[in-house]
Amino acid sequence: MLGNFTYSNPTKLYFGENSLDYLREELQKYGKNILLVYGGGSIKKNGIYDQVVEILKSCGKEIFEDAGVMPNPTVEKLYEGCERARKGSVDLILAVGGGSVCDYAKAVSVSVHCKEDPWDKYYLRMEDVDNEIVPVGCILTMVGTGSEMNGGAVITNQEQKLKIGHVFGENVFPKFSILNPVYTFTLPKYQMVAGFYDIMSHILEQYFSGEDDNTSDYLMEGLLKSLIHSSKIAVKNPEDYEARSNIMWTATWALNTLVAKGKTTDWMVHMLGQSVGAYTDATHGMTLSAVSLPYYRQIMPYGLQKFKRYAINVWDVQPEGKSDEEIAEEGLSRMESYMKEIGVVMNIKELGVTEDMLEGIAKGVFILDGGYKVLSSDEVLQVLKDSMGN
Ligand code: NZQ
Ligand code: ZN
Repeated sequence: MLGNFTYSNPTKLYFGENSLDYLREELQKYGKNILLVYGGGSIKKNGIYDQVVEILKSCGKEIFEDAGVMPNPTVEKLYEGCERARKGSVDLILAVGGGSVCDYAKAVSVSVHCKEDPWDKYYLRMEDVDNEIVPVGCILTMVGTGSEMNGGAVITNQEQKLKIGHVFGENVFPKFSILNPVYTFTLPKYQMVAGFYDIMSHILEQYFSGEDDNTSDYLMEGLLKSLIHSSKIAVKNPEDYEARSNIMWTATWALNTLVAKGKTTDWMVHMLGQSVGAYTDATHGMTLSAVSLPYYRQIMPYGLQKFKRYAINVWDVQPEGKSDEEIAEEGLSRMESYMKEIGVVMNIKELGVTEDMLEGIAKGVFILDGGYKVLSSDEVLQVLKDSMGN
């Protein structure tokens, strides 16, 4: 049975090869001062920066640049962005980049007018926003996080060794997002496949929870099949527009709040991955791939029927003559082969985790209770140990 819910999503999307043309239209809705936020320079190399700046200038906008947003944006960078946005009295924050840039833009948007320390208020105390929010628009260049159509904003505090995501409400969602699959062609393969696994993990972490028959689970099975199909093509030919556009659209639907409606969700792989990320600054999607299978093998006995359904409906496992456990395990082993085929990282050692870090990482994992099994602290540590590989 589906639980009761309210659903709406305020982000307007422009999708396709000509989607940047709509930026002009959107810019008319906002004042003159624009905070142009981007990362370490990929948009300068591939020409997106020049295209965006030309449009901003032709619309008579004053540009305040905020460059150097790092993957896994830090709290220090957040303070710097707020300062810059305040100085420029900005009317719109335009994020051009991947999830890190979009997340950061949202974190700045709620913090510019915040009277307290935003890290304490939004990340440690998880409070709602009660001050003015500067609107955000996104031009996406890396696919995976879903940040283009959600309220997530993950920030890392390296000193406290904490990486925390605040999922803000609709008032913080981007007002608009421009999704041009061609912009993702220049991604290095490592980032591309990390993004593919991030998408898969978002879907699985909403799928592996609850026993009921509901529409959301069927939607997720469809998204997974599309992702698996297109990602295999994209790995062989990164410039296959059909595959990259399907993946871009799948990523948005995987985490724009729709598929979680009316059901419970798990999210423990992200909790594990984020703590690994806080210690290693590793690429987000790879922190997830490296812990996933040990986690799923740990919880499989508690959600056996769903793992069986996953094996049959997503991985086409033939059930005849096999026990439920055999079917479920065959599904996970097909998933494992797929992960190796696309080339994601399969253990946390490869991400720089050493044995002496394991207890600290385990302590940094927020234990959630929406999945098939609420892990004990010892079980969290065990999953991390199992994720070290051989
Ligand atoms: O910084 P630049 O030079 O732009 O390079 C970036 C970065 O090094 C590069 N890149 C992006 N687009 C490119 C490109 N390189 C060449 N061509 C392009 N078109 O890719 C690298 C990674 O970018 P990043 O934005 O860090 O990746 P991603 O999109 O995976 O974002 C990761 C962040 O999002 C958070 C993660 O925790 C992490 O901090 N997440 C946000 C979520 C949300 N809002 O709901 C949910 C996710 O689960 C995730 O936690
Ligand atoms: Zn993610």
